[in-house]
Amino acid sequence: MELKFTSLSSKAISLAPLKALSSEAESLSFPSSEPTKQQQQQLPLRIIPGDYGLPFFGAIKDRLEYFYSDGGRNEFFRSRQQKYNSTIFRANMPPGPFVASDPKVIVLLDGKSFPVLFDLTKVEKKDLFTGTYMPSTNLTGGYRILSYLDPSEPKHEKLKNLIFFLLKSRSNNVIPQFHSNYTDLFDSLDIELSKNGKASFSGNDQTAFTFLCRAFYGTDPKDTSLGSDGPSLVQKWVLFNLSPELSLGLPKFIEDPILHTFRLPSIFVKSDYKRLYDFFYGSAGFVLEEAERQGISRDEACHNILFATCFNTFGGVKIFFPALMKWIGGPGNKELHSRLAQEIRSAVKSNGGEVTIATMEEMPLMKSVVYETFRIDPPVPLQYAKAKQDMVIENHENSFQVKKGEMLFGFQPFATKDPKIFERAEEFVGDRFLGEEGEKLLKYVLWSNGPETESPSVRNKQCPGKDFVVLVSRLLVVEMFLRYDSFEVEATKSALGYDLNFISLAKATS
Ligand code: HEM
Repeated sequence: MELKFTSLSSKAISLAPLKALSSEAESLSFPSSEPTKQQQQQLPLRIIPGDYGLPFFGAIKDRLEYFYSDGGRNEFFRSRQQKYNSTIFRANMPPGPFVASDPKVIVLLDGKSFPVLFDLTKVEKKDLFTGTYMPSTNLTGGYRILSYLDPSEPKHEKLKNLIFFLLKSRSNNVIPQFHSNYTDLFDSLDIELSKNGKASFSGNDQTAFTFLCRAFYGTDPKDTSLGSDGPSLVQKWVLFNLSPELSLGLPKFIEDPILHTFRLPSIFVKSDYKRLYDFFYGSAGFVLEEAERQGISRDEACHNILFATCFNTFGGVKIFFPALMKWIGGPGNKELHSRLAQEIRSAVKSNGGEVTIATMEEMPLMKSVVYETFRIDPPVPLQYAKAKQDMVIENHENSFQVKKGEMLFGFQPFATKDPKIFERAEEFVGDRFLGEEGEKLLKYVLWSNGPETESPSVRNKQCPGKDFVVLVSRLLVVEMFLRYDSFEVEATKSALGYDLNFISLAKATS
């Protein structure tokens, strides 16, 4: 069968979740087994448990426990949840001194309270994309980049529209470019596997970066002075942005002072960043022209599209693609693989061998496994928002008073594994989102900083790349099961995501 990977039409990438959902505009309401609004109002008021300890020392103690205690970050949250018998409590979040002036947060761990972080009538999202500290603007050309802007700031709308413009203008290139770049990657994985008995998925970094540059800007970095340095330059720059909240697995007496106590000086990454900037300035003329038409300088626009491409998109895909392979390739999923292969191949066949957005709408199981991975392993796990007013927040058992100015922090992997919302919440259930009942659960999938049933707009902080990300994640699964009947992986945790090896890739037999 000859396969064609084409985009459907010139319309913007826009995906219906599993099928057109009538609940699209529905706000986050709970199914009938949940308390009614009136009952919710009667939930007993409880003082938020937990404390911040002594000034300075309390923050350091929490930081060391978060990074270095047995069980790490998950245990940090789980043990406190148990101790306070509450999914809402007070704690300090890293980095604390001397990087963040105020580490105090109210932690939200359940799927009911978490969505308050998206309610911009109640919270503000200014300068807290990375949490209780904001990286130096020296790392971003002196600008506060879109991700740090609250929708109440006039620039937010202009810059978000620019990202929508970029995605819409280039939507026809995504499917063909994805196919071409990822075919090369899988060709090389096949060779590596046959030589060494295993093949590292680390080549995904170079492939993803090249794919993004070709799809978004029509330029292959290898044809420019950037060459193949893009991914390593981005990684170093991201480390300088995120070091206060990362662990690289070094001994704590080395790592904690270097990464978490002071900021890494931006001067050490200046020339690397300049190379990236020059590449984008030279390749993204059509976006910079549009920016000028909208009253944004070419310089500010260029720093913003660099950030959107390298930090938001490359960073996200670098984390999420290995996660997708890890969860689908997990032990005991052989039967799931054969169902996926059968579904994907028959949909492609009945659409004349074409892989399009419409073809993928006929693959409900494939769509469900992608959503399930976003649920069980959300790629951006930490979300912050500041209370704009005094308010009451609720988990399943209680209500809690929050004061204006307090920082709310949601640890998403717990919210999307809330056992009161999801059955077998800790398990990867590939077909969880199938059928009417499954679709109802999509509003609790929150990876894009909003429910999966809602859409990004200039008025909210939901990821503008939401549809693009869902599309490329689906394409990866489709590519896999057009090529292979089944596969097995080995994965180990890394600073951001997983290091993943394929230990078998069984070629398609039908
Ligand atoms: C796997 C890939 C991606 C993931 C996991 C991801 C995740 C997120 C999350 C969680 C946020 C909200 C952060 C917060 O405010 O707390 C966000 C915002 C944002 N993302 Fe994405 N994203 C991805 C891809 C993309 C793509 C493809 C683009 C654009 C090309 C993009 C551009 C942005 C921008 C500009 C914002 C800020 C939105 C605003 O200020 O309203 N992201 N993303």
